[in-house]
Amino acid sequence: MKKRVFSGTRATGRLHLGNYLGAVKGYLELQNNPDYEAIYMVMDLHAITTPYDKAKLFENTRNVVMDYLACGLDPEKSIITAQSLVPEHTFLAHILSSEITVARMQHLPTFKEKVKQHPDHVTMALLNYPVLMASDILLYKASLVPVGIDQEPHLEVAREIARKINEKYGTDFPEPKRFATQGEYVPSLTGEGKMSKSVEGSYIGLTDSLDEIKKKLSGAPTDSGKGEAIPEKGGVANLFKLVELFEGSEKRKEYEEKYLGGGVRYGELKTELAEAIFKEIEPIQKQRKIYENDPSLVERVIKEGAEKAGIIAGKTIEEIKDKIGLIK
Ligand code: TRP
Repeated sequence: MKKRVFSGTRATGRLHLGNYLGAVKGYLELQNNPDYEAIYMVMDLHAITTPYDKAKLFENTRNVVMDYLACGLDPEKSIITAQSLVPEHTFLAHILSSEITVARMQHLPTFKEKVKQHPDHVTMALLNYPVLMASDILLYKASLVPVGIDQEPHLEVAREIARKINEKYGTDFPEPKRFATQGEYVPSLTGEGKMSKSVEGSYIGLTDSLDEIKKKLSGAPTDSGKGEAIPEKGGVANLFKLVELFEGSEKRKEYEEKYLGGGVRYGELKTELAEAIFKEIEPIQKQRKIYENDPSLVERVIKEGAEKAGIIAGKTIEEIKDKIGLIK
């Protein structure tokens, strides 16, 4: 039997470069590997664990599916759909939540971060976020999960739960491993941390025009252009990293030499970088137009994906009900 891959992106808006390099490129690699059966979803139930705009959620979900398709995810090869269309995710999440403690959840760095961001919105759903994520993965008995390094603590939770129920009930859930992509850490334009949808001014969207990219880059912090050593953190370090990701390591070296010598002209660097980034995402934007012009295509992908996923999910639920003694 083929091994399964599962991954997803929270439905918080359109995808950005960080999502693309950090996750979607990994999705593509595994989709095209015949040893795997891949399932990729838009996580709308995860999106509602933090404050969100009800009027926009549906559009956000569709937009992420369109971005997936534009990037090359292929419904002939992968199962592509939205999480909430497969209600088994929440059913299994409830069962799994009785295998892990509140204290374990409260200590996760991702939980603490969200508590800081939204102190008035510390809900049960937020606390249970990692359990729902474990359920997403275990429901399909997936063994490989292409996600960013920041999701490793969540995968550890999923492994812990899998181990526990396998021991207790004799189930055969694989302990899921992370699949790391190259260049997975895409730094923020603000000079701090990584590109993130929730930090304004930190990211470049996959649908941004060349002008928008130039404008966003022009706001990225820099320094005088020279120094005794290459900065390891902050705006310049992040710009150099972006140069490496989109223009190659040779180009990065060139700039580093200039930095230690005659000085870097950031205006030039930013213009070149903007063009390199745009060149990479232009084909995605062209492809996206096909789906923008025919919404029924997207609808069909989502619906058929939900049906296929539902068949696998239904089997797992039947099996676990039996093992844990629920009435059938
Ligand atoms: N928590 C993930 C993120 O923020 C999104 C996600 C939810 C996910 N469920 C998942 C990723 C299952 C992989 C597998 O990126």
